[in-house]
Amino acid sequence: MRLAVVGAGSMGAQIAQQAALHGVEVRLQDRSLEQVRKAVESNRGHVMRRVEKGKLARAEAEDALSRVRTTTDLAEAVDGADFVIEAVFEDMALKRTVFAELDQAAPPDAVLASNSSTMGISKLADATARPERCVNMHFFYPVLVMDLVEVVRGPQTSDDTVERAMEMARAMGRTAVMLNKEIDGFIVNRILHAATQEAYRLLDNGVAGFEDIDTAVEKGLNWPMGPFRLGDFSGLDVTYNARMHMYQATGDERLRPSPQLEAKVKAGKLGRKTGEGWYRY
Ligand SMILES: NC(=O)c1ccc[n+]([C@@H]2O[C@H](COP(=O)([O-])OP(=O)(O)OC[C@H]3O[C@@H](n4cnc5c(N)ncnc54)[C@H](O)[C@@H]3O)[C@@H](O)[C@H]2O)c1
Repeated sequence: MRLAVVGAGSMGAQIAQQAALHGVEVRLQDRSLEQVRKAVESNRGHVMRRVEKGKLARAEAEDALSRVRTTTDLAEAVDGADFVIEAVFEDMALKRTVFAELDQAAPPDAVLASNSSTMGISKLADATARPERCVNMHFFYPVLVMDLVEVVRGPQTSDDTVERAMEMARAMGRTAVMLNKEIDGFIVNRILHAATQEAYRLLDNGVAGFEDIDTAVEKGLNWPMGPFRLGDFSGLDVTYNARMHMYQATGDERLRPSPQLEAKVKAGKLGRKTGEGWYRY
């Protein structure tokens, strides 16, 4: 099985390395040579930490690293590939261009998968002449740690393509779940959004403080982090933009971002990365 990964940012670099750790031959492409170099360096750091911890033999680590071959040339990356995973910036016009290029350059029977968090594959598949071989494969950050892939079928995705995507996820040591139809937010983000929105509603209505809501969720539902702590961890701007996206996509007033969340974002209190969000760091 030959995999090509297009886009060597936070997601693409680790998608490629995860597959290579499970014996898959991978070509990792980015248009930026600097990103390619960063990806190689970062992957070496992650894999070698496993060696230091005694979790991986040095020879296996070196093999896994050498199984990811890098390039800035798209045609070279997809030459002879059975499967392509796209992980470029979350920009529809850019992704459509990349899909059209992939359709030209990749073998005609190769599957073209997108790691987009928000774009159902139908928004990209019609930029190709093989919409039946296009599918969403939504990985979670950090891919080397998070054991889940949401495989989402678009209206034109074939059964064979869905099976090949599920198989690719398994081949790279990841658990795949299948969504039979496109839906905004897929499964995980919908459930996360629903719970987070409810947490903010409780806060905005003065039912409880954010620390107590976090404690309730952590101790009562056994989630590793409550919604406010998680928001600080991922960045409150990310949480806010996700809320805004859902609100604008549906027009549903119940999904409007919380005024208290908006105030944090406007004040530049974005969580860990700025030293303060709901909590201080
Ligand atoms: N970061 C996350 O938590 C996360 C989780 C799940 C899914 N995603 C999705 O994964 C995708 C990538 O996200 P990321 O966080 O890795 O982004 P990123 O900004 O870290 O990386 C994007 C990479 O794409 C490259 N790129 C841009 N245009 C290109 C082109 N034409 N050809 C080749 N490479 C190109 C950039 O140079 C960059 O290295 C997005 O669609 C995002 O929605 C992200």
